[in-house]
Amino acid sequence: MISTRLSSLRLAESICLLLILLFLSGCGQKPESTTITFAVGGAPAELDFWQVLIGEFQDRTGIKVDLLRQPTDTDLRRQGLITSLKAGRSDPDVFLMDVAWLGQFAASDWLEPLDTHNDLDLDVFFEKVLNLADRYQGHLIALPVYVDGGLLYYRQDLLNKYGFDKPPQTWSELLRYSLVIQKGERETNPDFYGFVWQGAQYEGLICNWLEYAGSNAGGIVFEDGRIILHTPANVQATQFMHALIHIHKVSPPNTYTEMKEEEARTFFQQGNALFERNWPYAWALHQSEDSPVRGKVGLAGLPHFSVGPSVSTLGGWHIGISKHSDAKQKSFEFMKFVLSFETQKRLALELSWNPGRRDVYTDQQVIAALPHFTRLRGVFENLRPRPNLPYYTLISQVLQRHLNAVLSGNSSATEALSAAEREAQTIVDRYAQ
Ligand code: GLC
Repeated sequence: MISTRLSSLRLAESICLLLILLFLSGCGQKPESTTITFAVGGAPAELDFWQVLIGEFQDRTGIKVDLLRQPTDTDLRRQGLITSLKAGRSDPDVFLMDVAWLGQFAASDWLEPLDTHNDLDLDVFFEKVLNLADRYQGHLIALPVYVDGGLLYYRQDLLNKYGFDKPPQTWSELLRYSLVIQKGERETNPDFYGFVWQGAQYEGLICNWLEYAGSNAGGIVFEDGRIILHTPANVQATQFMHALIHIHKVSPPNTYTEMKEEEARTFFQQGNALFERNWPYAWALHQSEDSPVRGKVGLAGLPHFSVGPSVSTLGGWHIGISKHSDAKQKSFEFMKFVLSFETQKRLALELSWNPGRRDVYTDQQVIAALPHFTRLRGVFENLRPRPNLPYYTLISQVLQRHLNAVLSGNSSATEALSAAEREAQTIVDRYAQ
């Protein structure tokens, strides 16, 4: 009898103890996960280099990093991240974000504020970029890994062969050189085209369009709560893009179906184009050992129309940590590694990325290996941002659809821009309330 009472007392005690332990473990900090997941996209060679860097970070710190390989296309990368973030998943812990959608991520409260980490030296970054993209409502939410700007790649050997002494300054020069050289080269290479650029229906099309439009003194204007897209300058610039494909035929027909960064890069790299519009990353790949155009390529600012300046869209990728990460401290260590002078210098030398850190640009080895950093400083200092709005991607999607319809011949520039303006205005109205 007594022993039964004693054992039920012990049972009650054990249950209490268990409950207390459960309660305490619930209140206390959960230990960080031992592994972090880093999500990043890009060209295959870029992803391979991330793998190398991750290996070095692991050896140095003992922190295990899983690389989540994303595609190159920025829209697909964004969708991939949003799926996890909306679901509150702890992975990926840390990722790169396009400057174009940072506003949306910040406004959605998906990013861990970085302000508490006071061992970050913010002075080394470009102040303008930090203010434009990385601060949200007084908090630091990301930091720039690299800065992109649209550039004109050209075949120096072909300009020489046909007697053109410098790259084109205006779009009409680009067209003239393209027509002459395309005709000549087609005699031996029927697949040769004058100019490749990004015309597929995705974010890259907007980056390209903003350059044509901006270099005709146009662009996206916000005025008293109105968004203005349908202007003579924008119509003309859009008509020129259409004409490159359908009238002058110096850009291939798949410009509007397939051409994104990698498609344009490989087309040019195979020796099938005279000019290419792309970001700085293409430089290292064109110069790689197995590249047919190695040693034959020059790099310049983009051409402009007679009334406007040369315009290059501000792009680039920023690193941030998910609010839902279960390894924030380790992710932060990784972030510091990516942003260190040493890693940023290697990203410049290996991948020809324009680093987010200013101090890499004055490094002697970098200056010698990438003389265009200095030569094109004017271009990089005047990069033109896309509208920095939490709902920018919605406006961009509207424009992508209508502009791509012009490039495919299914709409006129006037119709497309006025329809895009009407639709974009409904988005502005919805979010402005
Ligand atoms: C590059 C740029 C990015 C831009 C994208 C468009 O990745 O860095 O800002 O949105 O291209 O395709």
